[in-house]
Parts: sequence; C-alpha cells; structure tokens
Amino acid sequence: MTYGVVIGERGDPARWRRERRWIRRGPGTLGRALQTTKHLALRDRAAVLRFLGAPLPVGRRARLVMLRRFLRITNAVRGYHTLTELLEVAERVLRRAGTPGPRVIECGAGAGASTAKLSLAVRAVGGTLDVYDTFRGIPANEERHELLDGTPVRFLEGAFRGRLGAVRRRVEALGAPEVCRFHKGLFEDTLVGLEGPVDVALLDVDLVSSTATCLRAIAPRLRPGGCVLSQDGHLRATHDLLADRAFWGEVGVAPPAVEPLGDGKLLALTWP
Ligand SMILES: C[S@@+](CC[C@H](N)C(=O)[O-])C[C@H]1O[C@@H](n2cnc3c(N)ncnc32)[C@H](O)[C@@H]1O
Repeated sequence: MTYGVVIGERGDPARWRRERRWIRRGPGTLGRALQTTKHLALRDRAAVLRFLGAPLPVGRRARLVMLRRFLRITNAVRGYHTLTELLEVAERVLRRAGTPGPRVIECGAGAGASTAKLSLAVRAVGGTLDVYDTFRGIPANEERHELLDGTPVRFLEGAFRGRLGAVRRRVEALGAPEVCRFHKGLFEDTLVGLEGPVDVALLDVDLVSSTATCLRAIAPRLRPGGCVLSQDGHLRATHDLLADRAFWGEVGVAPPAVEPLGDGKLLALTWP
C-alpha cells in the first residue's frame, strides 16, 4: 500500500521493493531534486519543449518562469501527476487568455502541488481558480477499480489527504494564492449551485462516482471552446463512464470527444 491506494490483490511486491530505495526521495530532499532533473531530461523533455515552443498567447519568457516554478513545486510538495500532465493542463489554461475572466476549476487537490501549479497558469491569463476537495482525502467508498491492464485497485478512505490549511500555505509559498478560492467538502455538496461559465476544469478524483458528480455539475456550464481534463484515464471505470451515452443523456449534454494526452492518464474532453 502507498498513500492509501491498494494495487493488486496483495499489493505488488516488485513495486514495493523498487520503492524501498537507499536514497530518500520525499519532498524537499536531494533525491527528489535529482529525480526531477532526470525526468526533465528524459520523461518530460518532449512536453517541456512543446510547452515552451507552442504558439500561445502568453509569451515564452513567462512560460519559462512558470516552468521553473513548477519544478520548485515538484521538489517541495508531494504531487500525484507528472510534469508532462501539468504542462498539458497549463497549456489549455493559457489558450484561454483573452477570454473575459477565465474561470478554472480544480476537483481533487491532494497535497496542493497541482493547485499551486494551476494557480500560476490561471494568474498568467487573469483568471480565477476554484478548488474543490474534502481536504480530508478520499471519502469512504465501496468502489473496486481496475487499471486498463486489469490490475485491481482500491482507493482507501483518507488517501491523498492534504489539509486545507497546509494546501493554502503551500499555494501561498509557491503559487498564486490571490486567484484561488477553496471549497471544502464533498463534491456532492460543494458543487451544488455551481455557476458558469467554466473555461477549464481539471478532475483528479480517482472514484468514478466523484468523476460523475463533477461532470454533472461542470459539463453543462462549460464555455464554448472550454474543456474538461481528467487525470483518471488509467482507470477502466473512467473510460466506461465517458462512453456511457445514458450518463450524458442524464447530464444533458452530448457525449464529448475524448483524447488521451501524454501517456494516456490525462484525458481531454471537448465538445464541438
Ligand atoms: C489523487 S488526489 C489529487 C491529487 C492532485 N491533483 C495532485 O496531482 O497532486 C484525489 C483527490 O480527490 C479528492 N476527492 C475524491 N473524491 C472526492 C469527493 N467526492 N469530494 C471531495 N473530494 C474528493 C480527495 O480528497 C483527494 O484529495
């Protein structure tokens, strides 16, 4: 078990052995900084070049500064995403520059690493960021999941917990707190009465019931040209939900086009 996630029937011993390393890799350690540099040179290199080279309405210099701050956040805060994924998300936010008051939503903040990064992208386009989470981790649930390769997974109550005070402090130290509004509680309660329009929504919520709740609230309020990004594309249940025409009928919007980005864990949902 790591961070309250159970993979496989009795865990994955090879993975646990790999994780028991001689060098500490947690936030703020030299090991983490070395790992970030390695990822920058290998795993995330193509995404970084794309992010810096793309013709976007926010200048390259500003993007380079943003990238440096993303790396600082990666080194300082436990996060559950890759740099590649967050650059893809940031790019979609930056494309909204010029929209009046761009509105971005994050569902699932964890320890606040994605929130701090997202807040920097949102500030660059003069927008606002609404952040939704229990701030107590994954809620109690009976869901049994499968990765796309069939490996069983469970998300235990309390996993990924980042307390609201700690998340706020991290965003204050490393992100753009002035653009953020925090909404503590279950999505089922806090997203009720959500007002539009929404430009970009990032969902990283693990439970399929949580994804469904977020989509019900957000999809009908997307501004034309806006998108929903889901970081739960590694789970079979997310794909099943997104392909379920009856679900979209209930939401009241047409089924979206679903595009896997990066290694496919990140999905972009767009509507014509
Ligand atoms: C994987 S973590 C998010 C990680 C973060 N985006 C990152 O990249 O570091 C998933 C988050 O979803 C939140 N969550 C899941 N279902 C929820 C629900 N129904 N209501 C509120 N929060 C929920 C959990 O509290 C947890 O913080």
